[in-house]
Amino acid sequence: MNPLELIARLDLERHPEGGWFKRIHTSEHRLDTAFGARARVTSIHYLLTADEPLGRLHRNRSDILHYLQGGGPVEYLLLDDASGELRRVVLGSAPDQQLFLFVPGGVWKASRLIGAADHALVSEAVVPGFDFADHAFADSALLARFPQHRDALAALVRPAA
Ligand code: GUN
Repeated sequence: MNPLELIARLDLERHPEGGWFKRIHTSEHRLDTAFGARARVTSIHYLLTADEPLGRLHRNRSDILHYLQGGGPVEYLLLDDASGELRRVVLGSAPDQQLFLFVPGGVWKASRLIGAADHALVSEAVVPGFDFADHAFADSALLARFPQHRDALAALVRPAA
């Protein structure tokens, strides 16, 4: 399926991070967290396309498991807020690429299509389930805290509203 067919078939909407998404599962079960009640798990389809090739830098308190379903390669940049370590992981079907990525809660994450990719369809499981109260976008203050990563991250930080 090409990217336009995927958007129609999966009924995707634009995501505030960039790209396209659709919630595909919300657990009926709730759990209490230090920040309030959440679904036990939620899951989305997330799609990057040539028109929407970036998922901008953000973090979530929940752990997020990522599964490449099609397309790629897609590069993930992961910044550990405590250590300042920046990690690069590529999801794709080449031997040196991964089909799965685990991102622990609290780690900053951005994604972008690379190489000849015209799309990447990644499914995510979020545990505890997704809630915007757990989500934060990076801004220029984060770049100021990590000047050693400014060149790598500046294009992935959402412009001020
Ligand atoms: N990122 C991961 N899961 C979700 C979700 O359910 N909704 C939104 N808006 N973003 C997400």
